[in-house]
Formats: sequence, structure tokens, C-alpha cells
Amino acid sequence: MTDEAREDYQTPVLEGQGASDYERYLRTDELLSLQKPAHERVHHDELLFQTVHQASELWLKLASTEVQEAAAAIGHDQLGAALRLLRRAVLCLRYVTDQLDMLGQMDPWEYQQIRVVLGHGSGFDSPGFRRVASVTRQLSSAFDGLLARSGVELIDVYRRGRELEDLHSLAELLTEWDERIWVWRFRHYSVVARALGEQTVGTQGTPVKVLGKLIAQRQLPKLWEARARLVELFDAERDRAG
Ligand code: HEM
Repeated sequence: MTDEAREDYQTPVLEGQGASDYERYLRTDELLSLQKPAHERVHHDELLFQTVHQASELWLKLASTEVQEAAAAIGHDQLGAALRLLRRAVLCLRYVTDQLDMLGQMDPWEYQQIRVVLGHGSGFDSPGFRRVASVTRQLSSAFDGLLARSGVELIDVYRRGRELEDLHSLAELLTEWDERIWVWRFRHYSVVARALGEQTVGTQGTPVKVLGKLIAQRQLPKLWEARARLVELFDAERDRAG
């Protein structure tokens, strides 16, 4: 390569559409064409609504990819790698939850205009959330397998915390992952209640109240049951001692 060519940082070298390598690599032309143009929007806030939903799908895609990889790492007893991947996934869910704040900026009367162009569109069909549910099941089985290989019960992971540090960190991150799903559900419910009230029926026929009930659902119930069991064990041991 000549000195002249080496200094030419402006000419794109990647294949694809776009005037620069930034636009070609990130495919910004396609990405930015995925939101309705101004003349097709029934309301100004449609851009806000689409941006939050599309960005959520991207974070959920990353989150579930990392959880799937973490489940595989657990299957190979690579706990350090699994911990690192799960920390990222948890952060993704935090971002998805934080983004809901933006929808609180939407006026409930104005939202009615957007609602009519959603057809039967419903979050139950969110590919991101569907995948979250499926990879969480994989994570749960991988963790059960790990406990079985290690010959310990979940409550022992807590009772012998320091001795089983990696297992303990993993159990806590799994708990955080499940907690994040539940916190998202709670926050989503409050956003829906602000936009539609609590007595309304959604675009796919689900009463808003049903969303409230889903908050109580746990994807990884064993982690929460273990806590209740620890309370019982602690009290029983104290009664015996006392
Ligand atoms: C103003 C904003 C929003 C409103 C009014 C709203 C409304 C609703 C309603 C009414 C349902 C029940 C299903 C039905 O439509 O009949 C639902 C479910 C759902 N929505 Fe939303 N939603 C909003 C924002 C979001 C965002 C940003 C996401 C992010 C991906 C999302 C994801 C979901 C999911 C995953 C469900 C299934 C419920 C669950 O599994 O807990 N929604 N939403």
C-alpha cells in the first residue's frame, strides 16, 4: 500500500449501501427506514412508539443470545464465562425497562390515535419476549444440571455461601435475571395503565388486569422457593437451639 492510499481514511472499504463505512457496517439506511416516515404517521408520537418498541426488540435479542450462550457455558462447567454473559443480559433487561419511561411521556388521548393503527398487534407476539421465555427455560435446566453434577442442593449453595462461591454468584445472577423480568412486567403494567386505564381490553383481546396478574409469575420459581425454605430452616434451627 502506498503512503497516499494509507492516508485515505475517507473512502469506504466495506461492501454495502451508504456513503461511509460507518453507514455500511451498521446498515443505517435500512435501520432508519424501519420507522414510518412523517407523512405516513397518524400521529407525531408514532416515531416515539416505534423507536421504543424496536429498540426493545434489539436489546431483547442481545439479552437472549447471551442467556443462551450462558446456558451452554454452564453445561460445560465454564462458570466464569456464564457469569459474564448473564451480567450483560441483566443489563439489557434494565435498559428495556428504563426505556418504558419514554412511553410515560405520551398523552393517553393522543395514544388513542396510534392504538387504532396497531391492528391486532400485541406484545404477546414480541419475538424478543418469546425468546426470553425460551432461553430462560434453557438456563434453568442448565443450572439444575450443574447442581446435580456438583452434588449440592440449591439451599446448600446459600447455606455454604463462601465454600461454593461460583455457584452462589450464579444463583444470584439467575435470581436477578428473573427479578428483572418481573420488574419489567410491573413497569410495563404501570405504563399500560397510564395509557389505557386498568379496566380496558388490549388490541389482542387481553384485559389489562390480566397483565397485572402476570407480575406474580416467576420464570425460575425454585430460586424464590429456596428463600422461603431458608426462612423455615433458620427458624427450625433457632427453635432447636433455643
Ligand atoms: C404505551 C405503550 C404500551 C401499551 C399501551 C401496551 C399495551 C399492552 C397490552 C394491552 C398488552 C396485553 C395484550 C393485548 O394487547 O391484548 C400488552 C402485552 C405485552 N406488551 Fe405491551 N404495551 C406497551 C408497550 C410495550 C413495550 C415498549 C413493549 C416492549 C417490547 C411491550 C411488550 C409487551 C409484552 C412482552 C406483552 C406480553 C405481556 C407479558 O408477557 O407480560 N409493550 N401490552
